[in-house]
Amino acid sequence: MNFTINNLSVFTDGDSKRRSIVFVHGFPYDHFMWDEQVKVFSKDYYCVRFDIRGLGASPAGDGQFNIEMFVDDLEKIIDELKLDKPILCALSMGGYISLRAVERMGSKFGALIICDTKSSADDNEGRLKRAAAIKQINSGKFDEFIESFVLNCFSDEFVKEKNSEYKKVVERSKKNDPVGVKGCLLAMAGRTDTTNSLSKFNLPMLVICGSEDKLSPPEVMKTMADKIPNAKFVLVEDAGHMTPIENSGVVNKAIKDFLVYNEL
Ligand code: MLT
Repeated sequence: MNFTINNLSVFTDGDSKRRSIVFVHGFPYDHFMWDEQVKVFSKDYYCVRFDIRGLGASPAGDGQFNIEMFVDDLEKIIDELKLDKPILCALSMGGYISLRAVERMGSKFGALIICDTKSSADDNEGRLKRAAAIKQINSGKFDEFIESFVLNCFSDEFVKEKNSEYKKVVERSKKNDPVGVKGCLLAMAGRTDTTNSLSKFNLPMLVICGSEDKLSPPEVMKTMADKIPNAKFVLVEDAGHMTPIENSGVVNKAIKDFLVYNEL
């Protein structure tokens, strides 16, 4: 079923009376990146996905975004759909949003699954890269930006072996509104650091990382997981930053084991 909440496109699968999982996608993607998870988990869970403001089918408006607005959107969707202690499952930028959401209103959630993300804010180098990306887009090179950014997200192996799947992701990402993409870059550049709150997170947590992830590498994610009480860390071999797409089998098994273990 499709809904419009807070002007955003929201997509649900499965029985609304079941426990819910809210999937929060990465940048510059949209809800489609969770297709392989929703196929499996909608049999037993109410799966809720949405397109983050400015990406996919959610309008960009003026593109003046910050992560706090994205957390407000997430809260609004949970409240409108009356979700009781949803499990959050998020990747990368979705992880930035979810880590801040748990820091801000942790008791609202039943569990947190984060893939290929980090709790730290951008450092100076990271912020300058965002600025260079905005400059590139403003100079009319939006497609070139998408091509190089998405290439960096996948393992070389995936790009070579599953080239048609990879190309589909690239082409879909190019359909995004450049205003929304720039808004997300600004939001990520301005995000806060949630590292100091990790030790206070008291909900079941699963931390998933691709062994070839160049954006949030395994050593960074493992260090983060070690700061969270009772977090389970899973390394997905031969995958880059996009583990749910690159190795959905391993990711789905890790999620399933986590849900069963925590009786969720
Ligand atoms: C993402 O996958 O959401 C982005 O790589 C995050 C980022 O650029 O920091």
